[in-house]
Amino acid sequence: MYRARLNGPDDFDGWRDAARNFAMAGIPPDAIVWESGTDAPDLFASDTPPAAVVHGTFPVPRAFLDLAEMAILHSDPERFALLYALLTHMRDRPGSLEDRADPLVRRVEALAKAVRRDIHKMRAFVRFRELADTDGPRFVAWFEPEHHIVRTNAGFFMRRFASMRWSILTPELSIHWDGETLTEGPGAKREDAPMDDPVEEIWKGYYAAIFNPARLKVGAMLSEMPRKYWRNLPEAALIPELVAGAQAREAAMIATPPKNARRPGNAATVWQALREEAMGCTRCPLYKDTTQTVFGEGPVDAPLMFIGEQPGDQEDLAGRPFVGPAGQIFDEALETAGIDRTRAYVTNAVKHFKHERRGKRRIHQTPETPEIQACRWWLTQELELVRPRIIVALGATAGRALLGKAVTISRLRGAPIALEGAAQGWITVHPSYLLRIPDAARKAQERARFIQELRAIAKQLEAIG
Ligand code: URA
Repeated sequence: MYRARLNGPDDFDGWRDAARNFAMAGIPPDAIVWESGTDAPDLFASDTPPAAVVHGTFPVPRAFLDLAEMAILHSDPERFALLYALLTHMRDRPGSLEDRADPLVRRVEALAKAVRRDIHKMRAFVRFRELADTDGPRFVAWFEPEHHIVRTNAGFFMRRFASMRWSILTPELSIHWDGETLTEGPGAKREDAPMDDPVEEIWKGYYAAIFNPARLKVGAMLSEMPRKYWRNLPEAALIPELVAGAQAREAAMIATPPKNARRPGNAATVWQALREEAMGCTRCPLYKDTTQTVFGEGPVDAPLMFIGEQPGDQEDLAGRPFVGPAGQIFDEALETAGIDRTRAYVTNAVKHFKHERRGKRRIHQTPETPEIQACRWWLTQELELVRPRIIVALGATAGRALLGKAVTISRLRGAPIALEGAAQGWITVHPSYLLRIPDAARKAQERARFIQELRAIAKQLEAIG
């Protein structure tokens, strides 16, 4: 028996080095005892490194390393052995990673999936409480992850709360950020973290404001926000009351005309919290290779909303919608049509920049239905918060996001469409379409048509009041 001793329960590099050596030496999975820093050592295993080292390499697909990096964070004590078994299995049966029916692949994928879910839960459910010390405000949160995800998630919290001083305490370890450096400390107890402060009121207001009784599905809510997290969430205290009142609120919402149906609470605070939350969005994989989420912007009571497709290269860097070349065309057209952009809410159907890298360039890629659907959650929140009287979808992706189905712009453009809740929808071309027309005369013609539509929208807006 050989012993592989790792530096901790999430020591992926240690596992990879040891696994490579064992695999090169031809050691079978059942001849290795894997121990992470926290396990008691196996008395019968030997620390002697494998003797029969075979020189050479065997290729390991990148997809395996990505999968292993996630799965290793699972709390299952068997994970190191399972991953090593999969590694040797892949060597004996190249291509087995693509075989979705392979029991070993399925088992490891299930581990990785549970870890991803836990990472997402931590990002969504960590709630900071404010403390004051001599250096100013400091924020402390308590969280109980199911798996060993805290180190992996630290980067997310550093980026998201870069200018705050914060600590996240968990039973396994604590992490601390002072605005410049991340440090680690030992695990903590729930009592070590404060439980009440004014930040909670903001969360409660936010949650009450975005809670839509017409959408109440208790099963789905429990699966998204499992009960075990409730006790750390200030807003969870509101759930029983909100659920109990849901039927009455739904009836009241139906009976109230939309113009008066604006929800309680400070809409700007709610928008701010929503935007903050969207900064950590991992609802689809697009977040992985972008600079940031580009959330919508504009007055939260704007009567007019424009929906674009997705941020482009410049929007991704600036963190604001329509500031690049398409934004310039858009701004000029709005000005010619007499629409003040600062009085409109401008957003996108998809809030991360989908692209492919070619050398140093990032080339735009059209988002696909799953990405549009995943991001529709945010668009719905924006629509429900702003409640614009007129919503303009710029291009086919925005049209799909607004109407929930594929649209043919040439058939729908030029006339208003009645939407749920008495809002009026318009579908027109995307400004970047105008950018791409090579023929100058046609370009001018199409631009004039776009401006004409914007003028019609401005007129409707005036009529609606
Ligand atoms: N194109 C869009 O659809 N949105 C932007 O924000 C920029 C370009």
